[in-house]
Amino acid sequence: MKALILVGGFGTRLRPLTLNVPKPLVDFANKPMILHQIEALKGAGVTEVVLAINYQPDRMLSFLKEFEAQIGIKITCSQETEPLGTAGPLALARDKLVDESGDPFFVLNSDVISEYPLKEMIEFHKAHGGEASIMVTKVDEPSKYGVVIMEESTGRVEKFVEKPKLFVGNKINAGIYLLNPSVLDRIELRPTSIEKEVFPKIAAEKKLFAMVLPGFWMDIGQPKDYITGLRLYLDSLRKRSPNMLASGTHILGNVLVHETAKIGEGCLIGPDVAIGPNCTVESGVRLSRCTVMRGVRIKKHACVSGSIIGWHSTVGQWARVENMTILGEDVHVGDEVYSNGGVVLPHKEIKTSILKPEILM
Ligand code: GDD
Ligand code: MG
Repeated sequence: MKALILVGGFGTRLRPLTLNVPKPLVDFANKPMILHQIEALKGAGVTEVVLAINYQPDRMLSFLKEFEAQIGIKITCSQETEPLGTAGPLALARDKLVDESGDPFFVLNSDVISEYPLKEMIEFHKAHGGEASIMVTKVDEPSKYGVVIMEESTGRVEKFVEKPKLFVGNKINAGIYLLNPSVLDRIELRPTSIEKEVFPKIAAEKKLFAMVLPGFWMDIGQPKDYITGLRLYLDSLRKRSPNMLASGTHILGNVLVHETAKIGEGCLIGPDVAIGPNCTVESGVRLSRCTVMRGVRIKKHACVSGSIIGWHSTVGQWARVENMTILGEDVHVGDEVYSNGGVVLPHKEIKTSILKPEILM
């Protein structure tokens, strides 16, 4: 089976992390976001993943080549010369997606995280016999998403409305699709939206079916949702593979610590923390609801909460970093400095406190 991941966009809302790498390569729970998806696809029997991409393809490919062999999956790029939206890239990659098997293929938005019940989705797709399946999930604020009205008993989609102005329902498109090759006959090679131009038509022909996603779901394309997404992900990891989480008297709730990270004496870590490869957390440090990426050093008695610490940054002794502070790559926060929601661009040194949320260039 094949799959296509939609990897467009510049990830502006996750700056400054996306100043160094394309959004799908930003780490989430100790590995690049896109690897969560590729591993799930592999688990469902996918043998080839096409990345539909419109910028920095070399960066993505050189990075992912390493994982091709490791995961045992073929990864190729389909590059647009102009952004083709969410449907155009499928037309562009047509030859890569269709083969003589006639099998349906997966399509994923690259900025969502969930438990990916893809095998169940294949069963669902076979059982309804329609042309396309989409996953849906319930959210509190449906207006930011594609809203789906469906017949509860069969899953048949009656209506698909992208970003409705008025409330029509709270089940939304989760950005995970399984499509028959015939869907490609509906898509022209031009900038076009699958949500606005393709799904509403398939729904009108009664051939679009929706499966309610079991478990958690989050679009992690902005810091607040990224931090909430980590909590939901770790909760689900606790249920699926509790052995992957850290334990001990210094751990509170769900905490993921990479095997190469070093943690000093007398720390208190958790809940909802991810500590990446080659990090050093010195003694007496307090961490909660935060992500600490590869190669970070947190010095003695520092306190970090509700924040993201980018690759190879350092947080000084007695420093206090909180309230959605986002440090880009290689940022150095001085000793005793306080950051209240500072968003700091890569390679900066912070010597004085940031008293209210602001961007430091
Ligand atoms: N290759 C390519 N080219 N990919 C693109 C392009 C493009 O021109 N434009 C967007 N994408 C990719 C994005 O990178 C993302 O992975 C996916 O297509 C969806 O685009 P977003 O810009 O993230 O859309 P959204 O979040 O506003 O809405 C979409 O996702 C929601 C779920 O998070 C829609 O699919 C909604 O219906 C859905 O509810
Ligand atoms: Mg999105």
